[in-house]
Amino acid sequence: MFNLKSEINKSMQWKRLEKLAKKMRKIEMRDMFAKDDKRAEKYSLKLENMLVDFSKNRIDDKVFKALLSLAKKAKVQNKITDMFEGKKINITENRAVLHVALRNRENTPIYVDGENVMPEINKVLAKIKDFSEAVRLGKFVGYTGKKLTNIVNIGIGGSDLGPKMAVEALKKYMPKEMNCYFISNIDGTACAEVLNKVDPETTLFIVCSKTFTTIETLTNAKTCRKWLIDALGEHATSKHFVAVSTNAKEVEKFGIDVENMFEFWDFVGGRYSMWSAIGLIVAIAVGYDNFEKMLAGANAMDNHFKTADLDKNIPVVLALISIWYNNFFNVRNHVVVPYDQYLTYLPAYLQQLIMESNGKYVDLDNRFIKYQTSPVIFGGAGTDVQHSFFQMLHQGTSFIPCDFIIPAISHNEIGEHHEILLANILAQSEALMMGKTTKEAMEELKAKGLSSEEVNRLKKYKTFKGNRPSNTIIFKKIDPFALGMLVAMYEHKTYVEGVVWNIASFDQMGVELGKQLALRILPELQGNKDDVKHDCSTTALIKLIKGLRK
Ligand code: F6P
Repeated sequence: MFNLKSEINKSMQWKRLEKLAKKMRKIEMRDMFAKDDKRAEKYSLKLENMLVDFSKNRIDDKVFKALLSLAKKAKVQNKITDMFEGKKINITENRAVLHVALRNRENTPIYVDGENVMPEINKVLAKIKDFSEAVRLGKFVGYTGKKLTNIVNIGIGGSDLGPKMAVEALKKYMPKEMNCYFISNIDGTACAEVLNKVDPETTLFIVCSKTFTTIETLTNAKTCRKWLIDALGEHATSKHFVAVSTNAKEVEKFGIDVENMFEFWDFVGGRYSMWSAIGLIVAIAVGYDNFEKMLAGANAMDNHFKTADLDKNIPVVLALISIWYNNFFNVRNHVVVPYDQYLTYLPAYLQQLIMESNGKYVDLDNRFIKYQTSPVIFGGAGTDVQHSFFQMLHQGTSFIPCDFIIPAISHNEIGEHHEILLANILAQSEALMMGKTTKEAMEELKAKGLSSEEVNRLKKYKTFKGNRPSNTIIFKKIDPFALGMLVAMYEHKTYVEGVVWNIASFDQMGVELGKQLALRILPELQGNKDDVKHDCSTTALIKLIKGLRK
């Protein structure tokens, strides 16, 4: 039944990398840079207006070659082809994985079960275009004839994080009169805070849920519908509610006409769905043209990923570097720092993309895995985070690899703001790599006139060991095309990591258990019976909360 193959960590390629890692632990990046002034050129890749400089990593030619051999051993190239050809690589759910089809601008046929999926995708894209333009131009208006200028996305996980991140990233392209809101959390506060701000006559709700069974989304949608009906009456809903889902039956059951539904398909994973109608709010906010440019950017990355040799392939190289630290240096975290205020939500988006995809401990051959899979992803916009967790990046007991994302030009070139921002990011990656030796620290302290006793007392605190790796990803500007490229780059990087780790990157079974238990606890919290039976901690907490809520 299972095509059992030997585990990747038992391969010759893995063993070789273990040996190389032992050696590399003793090598300083600053020395490698001193010896080779072509290092940055050698370890950089360019695509369109994007440059990825991965030279500030603890790699040399031997390591790079060995990582590429590992990728070959894991058959990365074949697995890339399998995805683009619509093979059912989501083996636990028996589905193809075709977010790439959503942005297949060449419109070449892509088959799933013998059927070309492109005509259906194009039909929905045309519907997104028509509807988004109608809303923007005031042709599709609210029940009382007013223009819909408050757009509220109701969804969670992949039905929230992607569109929310993209709307924020492209805010500069939004008309001033428009406001976009996102309700995801079941916490009533999420709903209340949005409903307090918007006017029912000018509000459009987009209920996004792949399954249309997610309790948070359905509860929030019901609350919003009641609020609308209380204000405008039952008949108003068709002018103020649309749905995005794969589940027409549940959409109808909820009371949204399928005419007002935008379809997507099982071959699009939730966290890979911002290119589908889940991105409807993006198209409304920034215009369909810009939405298409975002698709085109992702498509450019797809074509690169599909055709570039492994050593020149940006997502492959980034994945291999991440595996290098994760599996051979025992590093458990990865930080992403966009130096662009508009990319504030990118780290949160990537947390779901990467950790929901690759936070797995069973492999594709049905075995428990004995090596580390997904790192913990965290981050935030620079320079803010320089003043929160960067201390640990510089002087924490273990290193944390970083991705720095920079636009050379800001959407808001005010005075010298952007130059100061750019200087900061370049300083950070340089400081992380170069560090400051104790000797250098002592010289600085002496130059400040400190006594030799003080110099000796402070020298270690002022030392930066350096040798801390980072990738620098530069764009000219974060426009819709660039955003598409960036996000697709991370999607493919995630896939390659999953391929090497031999895991099912496209399911999310780990989220289920908590959901099941919540359904059991809910009636216990709501009911009057005291005979709840859980572990003694959970039982006591249920009783305490019930008491507090009386
Ligand atoms: O968190 C689990 C999950 O299934 C995600 O994968 C998904 O993005 C999210 O819930 C929302 O699911 P849906 O779009 O079906 O409401």
